[in-house]
Amino acid sequence: MSVSATAPGKIILFGEHAVVYGRPAIAAQVNQVQVKATVEQSPTEFTIRALNLNRTELYSDLDLSDPLGVIIRLVLQTLGESAAPRATLTISSSIPIASGLGSGAAVSTAIARALALYFGEELDPATLSRMVYEVERIYHGTPSGIDNTVIAYERPVYFKRGVHESDPSTIRLLDVPVPFRIAIADTGVASPTKAAVGDVRRKWEAERAEYEAYFDRCGEIAFHAYHLIESGRPFELGPLMNDNHHVLQRMGVSSPELDRLVEAARQAGAAGAKLSGAGRGGNMIALVTEATEGIVNEALLNAGARRVIVTTVCE
Ligand code: MEV
Repeated sequence: MSVSATAPGKIILFGEHAVVYGRPAIAAQVNQVQVKATVEQSPTEFTIRALNLNRTELYSDLDLSDPLGVIIRLVLQTLGESAAPRATLTISSSIPIASGLGSGAAVSTAIARALALYFGEELDPATLSRMVYEVERIYHGTPSGIDNTVIAYERPVYFKRGVHESDPSTIRLLDVPVPFRIAIADTGVASPTKAAVGDVRRKWEAERAEYEAYFDRCGEIAFHAYHLIESGRPFELGPLMNDNHHVLQRMGVSSPELDRLVEAARQAGAAGAKLSGAGRGGNMIALVTEATEGIVNEALLNAGARRVIVTTVCE
C-alpha cells in the first residue's frame, strides 16, 4: 500500500512580524511550489527519507525535539495509534528552505496528511493547523500561527493571533471576488525565520514605543488591504505594499538584495512591491497584471532574482 499527500507554499501579503504581536496579517497559499509526502508499506520499521536533505533515518532514532519526529508523534496520538507503521515516509519539496515560503509548515502538513491517509483518516484543517503549530514552535519559538493556518486551509486568510491564552486567534478565510496576480522573486539568500523574529523581539524590548508604532501601522495596512481584497479592488493594493515594505525597512528586516528587487519591480511597472515573510533574504512579492507580468519578471531576473514565480491569489 502507498499513499501520498501534498502541501503548498505560502506568501505573506501584508503584516509579517507585526502578526506575532497580535496585529492582523494576510497570507495566501502558493500552489506552484509544494511538498509531497508518500507513505509506503515496507517490511522494516518506520523509516523517513527526506530527499532534499539527503537524510534517511529510523523514526525510533530521531531526537525527541526533531520536527519530523514531533509531527509524526502528534499524528499518531491524534489518531489513537500506539505505534508507527511498518512503512517508509518519503518527503520531497520544491519549496526552498528559509526563503519565507513556509517550507517548514508545508513539510509538517504534508507528512501529517499522508500519515493520516495511511491509517484511512483525513485530518480537518483546524486539527491539522493546530498540530503543525506545535512543530512551528520548535522551528522558531514564537510563531504567530499564520503559516500553519494558510497552509492547512489552502486558502487566502486574514489572521490575527490571540496574544493571551484566553483569547483565541481570529481566522477569516478571505473572499476574493476579483483574483489578482503576484510575482514572487527569490533573492537566493537563505534567512531562517527564527533569527529575524528573534532580532525584532530584542529591538521591540529595547524600543517598545517605536516598535509598537511600527506594528500598529502594519496592522492598519493589513486591515485596509483586507477591505480592498474583499470588495473586489485588489488593483489598489500597490501603495499599501509599498508602505508595508517601508515600515519593514524601518524595523530592520529588509536587506540590500530585497530592496534591489523591490525597486526593480516598481521601476518595471509593478503597482507595488514588498518583502514577504521574515525578511533579511528569502522572497519578495510584486503586484502585477497580465500586461506588466512579463516585463516585471524580466526586470527581477536582471536585478539578480534566482527565480520568479507568478501566482494568482484566489479562493
Ligand atoms: C513568517 O512567515 C511570518 C513572521 O511574521 C513570523 C510569524 O508570523 O510567525 C515573520
